[in-house]
Amino acid sequence: MIDIHAHILPNLDDGPLSLAEAVNLVREAKADGITAIFATPHAYKGVFHCTPEQILEKCSLLTEELRKQDIVMDIMPGSEVHLTNNVISHYDNGRLLTLNNLGSHILLELPEKFIFEAVTNILQDFAYRGVTVIIAHPERNTTLRKNVHLIPDMIDEGAMMQVTAASIVGGFGKKIMKITEKMIANDHVTLVGSDIHPFRDFMMRKALRKVLLTAGRKTAEEIFKRNAESILIPNEKRAYAAM
Ligand SMILES: [Fe+2]
Repeated sequence: MIDIHAHILPNLDDGPLSLAEAVNLVREAKADGITAIFATPHAYKGVFHCTPEQILEKCSLLTEELRKQDIVMDIMPGSEVHLTNNVISHYDNGRLLTLNNLGSHILLELPEKFIFEAVTNILQDFAYRGVTVIIAHPERNTTLRKNVHLIPDMIDEGAMMQVTAASIVGGFGKKIMKITEKMIANDHVTLVGSDIHPFRDFMMRKALRKVLLTAGRKTAEEIFKRNAESILIPNEKRAYAAM
């Protein structure tokens, strides 16, 4: 499994407070069946603002430590970008990190209250720049929970949806679990991530088991692995590699 959303880098956001704690989280990830992790610290101005340089540096630091301890795990850089009015100008100024720093996908967290038209404009602005937006845990967003019809509307605008593994198995309550189950049944989920923080559990294996039973192997493989793999290689390189 590939974890697309994890707060696993030390001393950046509300993730681990030390390198040793980060390594312990990676050990837990391995035990849960995860083989690669996108490290996605918060980029949220005024709350946690991790710069691309800091994220890349901490990714190298953790990778080096894992190598020293003979722990096999791919750690790829990324960020969970909080959506603000300035998100496009921040992106244009090189202040936001895309997944694996490839410029093809950005993980975007919506504010609890938002106007759909404003978000649509931002999705289009990213699409114009060749960037696909992945909405982080839509099932946990207050506005989307009350207006679930906006989820397919955003997909129509080119967004991908990443749900949290714990949401699938009831870790955020029954209501969120039901919404997540429906999203999976309607084929509205592209990716699953743990959104791991210290003192939470990955829950990826447990979520995978449930999706295998309820939605079948094809869907499970796509949302826990294949769709994330396709983000590792940008489109043009994928086409080249296939030749
Ligand atoms: Fe997160």
